[in-house]
Amino acid sequence: MITAKSQVSDVPGPIGIFDSGYGGLTILKGIRELMPEYDYLYLGDNARTPYGTRSFQVVYEYTLECVQKLFQMGCHLVILACNTASAKALRTIQQRDLPEIDPNRRVLGIIRPTAEIVGEVTKTRHIGILATPGTIRSLSYPLEIKKLYPDIEVKGEACPIWVPLVETGEFNSDGADFFIKQHVENLLAKDSQIDTIVLGCTHYPLLIEKIRKFVPDNIRIIEQGKYVASSLQAYLGRHDIADRCTRGGTCRYLTTESAETFHQTASIFLNEKITAQTVTL
Ligand code: DGL
Repeated sequence: MITAKSQVSDVPGPIGIFDSGYGGLTILKGIRELMPEYDYLYLGDNARTPYGTRSFQVVYEYTLECVQKLFQMGCHLVILACNTASAKALRTIQQRDLPEIDPNRRVLGIIRPTAEIVGEVTKTRHIGILATPGTIRSLSYPLEIKKLYPDIEVKGEACPIWVPLVETGEFNSDGADFFIKQHVENLLAKDSQIDTIVLGCTHYPLLIEKIRKFVPDNIRIIEQGKYVASSLQAYLGRHDIADRCTRGGTCRYLTTESAETFHQTASIFLNEKITAQTVTL
């Protein structure tokens, strides 16, 4: 259900950061390192994670509900810190829903800023994407990359089990190695000239130590956090939405699941103690 403009406030508020679960924390971290002065409100839809194996319609509906929640909680700008949501929901929300909810609010994704960087990094012009089945099936990465760099060859590999490994806290287990090796090798077997691998899912930086074990040293691995952060900084510099984002240096966390579990797990990922609040959508 679309929130009417009258239900959202015009008072400036925090920047909303949304993910299906914990993965968006890797993006939040990059953004806060670069721009600690802003206020942030993180929402993880842990009750309904993972999104990566769900249909377009379901990912769109879930994402829209979460964006509306962040608007209702005072955000004027929301970042979909989730590739799956960026791939499957961003365009419809921007083009169809925002004009109705409030044309002055903004929702941004993270695929475009990532696509922009690969052309500057690859030398062989062959790159690989590791992502959820939803992101791979959507073809969002090859499409965005080809728009900017038509000469780049893009191969993708869907890794359906990687998000559950993170969300269940099994990402450091010996069993995780099997699934990580399998998908890295599958990707590299698709194109021997790949010199750059994009972690096209915000959960994957949490697996980076294990991923590195199976990726040859001459291949560069791109984590999105810092690129999304610098792209957002440039965006805020160009647009007056920055005036509607408050600068108090705070960060609050919301989850659709148990707050207790969220703050325990998120504290490990962020290396700092945090508290979370459960919200209903
Ligand atoms: N972290 C999300 C992404 O970047 C996906 C996680 C999920 O499958 O829910 O794609």
